[in-house]
Amino acid sequence: MKQFNIALIPGDGIGSEVVAEGVKVLKAIEKADSNIAFSFTEFPWGCEYYLKYGKMMDEDGIDQLKNYDAIYLGAVGYPGVPDHISLRDLLIKIRKEFDQYVNLRPVTLLNPTLTPLKSKAERDIDFLVIRENSEGEYAGAGDWLYKGKPEEVVLQTGVFSRKGTERIIRYAYEEARKLKKTLTSVSKGNALNYSMVFWDEVFEEIGKEYPDVKTYSYLVDAASLYFVAEPERFEIVVTSNLFGDILTDIGAAITGGMGLATGANINPEKEFPSMFEPVHGSAPDIAGEGKANPIAAIWSVSQMLDFFGEEAWGKAILSTIRELLMDTKALTPDMGGKGSTKDVGDIFIELLFA
Ligand code: NAI
Ligand code: MG
Repeated sequence: MKQFNIALIPGDGIGSEVVAEGVKVLKAIEKADSNIAFSFTEFPWGCEYYLKYGKMMDEDGIDQLKNYDAIYLGAVGYPGVPDHISLRDLLIKIRKEFDQYVNLRPVTLLNPTLTPLKSKAERDIDFLVIRENSEGEYAGAGDWLYKGKPEEVVLQTGVFSRKGTERIIRYAYEEARKLKKTLTSVSKGNALNYSMVFWDEVFEEIGKEYPDVKTYSYLVDAASLYFVAEPERFEIVVTSNLFGDILTDIGAAITGGMGLATGANINPEKEFPSMFEPVHGSAPDIAGEGKANPIAAIWSVSQMLDFFGEEAWGKAILSTIRELLMDTKALTPDMGGKGSTKDVGDIFIELLFA
């Protein structure tokens, strides 16, 4: 019997609505598979907590989380708390403290009707973006000088350490080798004359150890164009923190929208827990109405099970999502259906065991 202890941070807005459906799926799997057991501990952190206690999470929050096998997060951020506080004091703090330096974001078209790109089929849009998740443009390094004065200056510095750059690029090469896929690096050496020139050099250097991996290197502007015009170019993509954030929103747009996009924050050494979350935010515009699409959150559960080494369940979830998407009438309004968040979770579980 394998026991996995999961910390739940449902967070704000639709976060708790979609996490509830993901947990429902995990509980159904536990019931069906006598070799797996899950425990769930819920943490009430987020913006409501901030408005009550003046902090996004407990001071010793990181300590409280460190012994779990995984963290399952909904979304954080809500009107009334500035986004840079909610994001930095919870989400980015966890990614950093637990050294979750790999962000895995699949860009996979599960049904041809879901893409706005004409004449693209499932085989054209099926790749994985590996985003650097611990430093780069999100390092929080900089300064704000002469605030409010005419000579005001702000500096936001990208931080690209050799260790940080090498490890993400090496992780990507390893994945490409393992899966026998091509690897594309996305950077911007022509304009960012320190950080991205360095990135390109490290990409080439490490590539010498992987002569079996076919590589490409694109500037981020060209890559954005190819994401839309020729997504079939990509198999595995490795890129920096900010570029990965932006590119994967394009990825979401070409595969069915925010209700489907998922991302895993991985600490590959398993020294700390990894964190699984839908890419979307707390969607205050639809929160509390039972309209949120839970599929992205359920896809996160698939990534979590893959990470636990339960790939058979991970695959089963993904193929069930594929099945679910064949009839969008029963899905949530963002997919053109009339179903509620709970309905979709229920139908999903029915299909998973059908
Ligand atoms: P958002 O992703 O919350 O919403 C963007 C649009 O997509 C909205 O129209 C929303 O209704 C729709 N949408 C998102 N997820 C959906 C779902 N599962 N089903 C149906 N429709 C869905 O992004 P927005 O509006 O920019 O941010 C809202 C708040 O969320 C902000 O406070 C922001 O900081 C936070 N946020 C948090 C993230 C996280 O916790 N990882 C990521 C992105 C934003
Ligand atoms: Mg984003």
